[in-house]
Amino acid sequence: LENGLARTPPMGWLAWQRFRCNTDCQNDPNNCISEKLFMQMADIIASEGYLQAGYSMVSLDDCWLARSRDAQGRLQPDPLRFPSGIRALADYMHNRGLTFGIYEDYGNYTCAGYPGILGHLQIDAQTFADWQVDYVKLDGCFSHPADMDRGYPLFGHYLNQTGRPMTYSCSWPVYQIYAGIEPNWTSIINSCNLWRNFDDIQDSWDSVTRIIDYYGDNQDSIVPNAGPGHWNDPDMLIIGNFGLSYEQSKSQMAMWAIFAAPLLMSVDLRTIKPDYKAILLNTAVIAVNQDPLGIQGRRIYKDKGIEIWARPITPVDQNYYSYAIAFLNRRTDGTPSEVSVKPAELGMTYPNGYTVTDLFSGVKYGLVNPKNIFKADVNPSGVVLLRWDLAASHDNEI
Ligand code: GLA
Ligand code: GLA
Repeated sequence: LENGLARTPPMGWLAWQRFRCNTDCQNDPNNCISEKLFMQMADIIASEGYLQAGYSMVSLDDCWLARSRDAQGRLQPDPLRFPSGIRALADYMHNRGLTFGIYEDYGNYTCAGYPGILGHLQIDAQTFADWQVDYVKLDGCFSHPADMDRGYPLFGHYLNQTGRPMTYSCSWPVYQIYAGIEPNWTSIINSCNLWRNFDDIQDSWDSVTRIIDYYGDNQDSIVPNAGPGHWNDPDMLIIGNFGLSYEQSKSQMAMWAIFAAPLLMSVDLRTIKPDYKAILLNTAVIAVNQDPLGIQGRRIYKDKGIEIWARPITPVDQNYYSYAIAFLNRRTDGTPSEVSVKPAELGMTYPNGYTVTDLFSGVKYGLVNPKNIFKADVNPSGVVLLRWDLAASHDNEI
């Protein structure tokens, strides 16, 4: 969507994967979906390096709404859990240099059963603008997937009519794919800044690898749709939660960088352990994710549990790109696997060669000639993420 927003993949914090539809503030006041939770996350994001690293948005997901609309037909938040109102929550974010996201559903109900926007598209778009919302995630439960070709662009039109720029996150394709409908990608790209095309992420390595497989197996139809202003969304980062090991967490971060994916953390930032926080704050990996070319990466090798993924990045020289290369080890045999490649065989033939850096260890390999073999050890269920920057002609071979 060419609305000037999301020129690189959006970065922020989204409640759903970690905090779900916990509305029990009586018994679980610190973890329930309430304004307090979002304010606490905002404070941490603004003060503990996340905002500086690029995570600038804090977003509601499902279960913020009251069970019914107000007397004028407008959406309203649950009064006990959001006593200050949504405008005040948006102000809270803006006062800290953050943007504010909201969740709704193009249907009669949200997935968790709260009021949907169907029949109220225009008034709801205006309400979001009045509340100073910056980002809208529009889900697709309790609606007919065939209606979405009309409904998602129409709601986007009403968002646009408000005059307030809002990033528009759509679930349109995933519901259509599940209904056996071939999504109209041209229309989706023109209408949405990002969109979901696969299952909800769950807190497990199994879930992460199923998403990676989906993106690899369907890359010919997925990859060309990504670019500045319009991104595939493989769903939230679960790094720092219960389900991923340290190696697996680096793997998710690396693969989401290769995917040019939105980086939407869904983790309790109050308790995240430092090692996991450091993965989320790895500026070199984030720079790959946010590369200005906005070209999504592809799986270029897959055999016996070893995968190689490549994403073209800056700097470029005529027809030559630099690359982010991920060696992903899906094996579980307990010992690191050696992965070796000849860059020329991956199509990387820049005559001056490449200067190679490991983005997690920080190891600088120096100049690699395209015809030489490059090797790295990759831990079980782990990753080695490398930057292969076009070398200057005067770089000397090391
Ligand atoms: C759907 C979405 C999730 C989340 C839930 C909320 O499953 O895909 O990301 O928003 O609804 O109910
Ligand atoms: C039909 C139903 C409505 C609603 C819409 C969704 O019109 O009668 O209740 O579910 O479909 O598109």
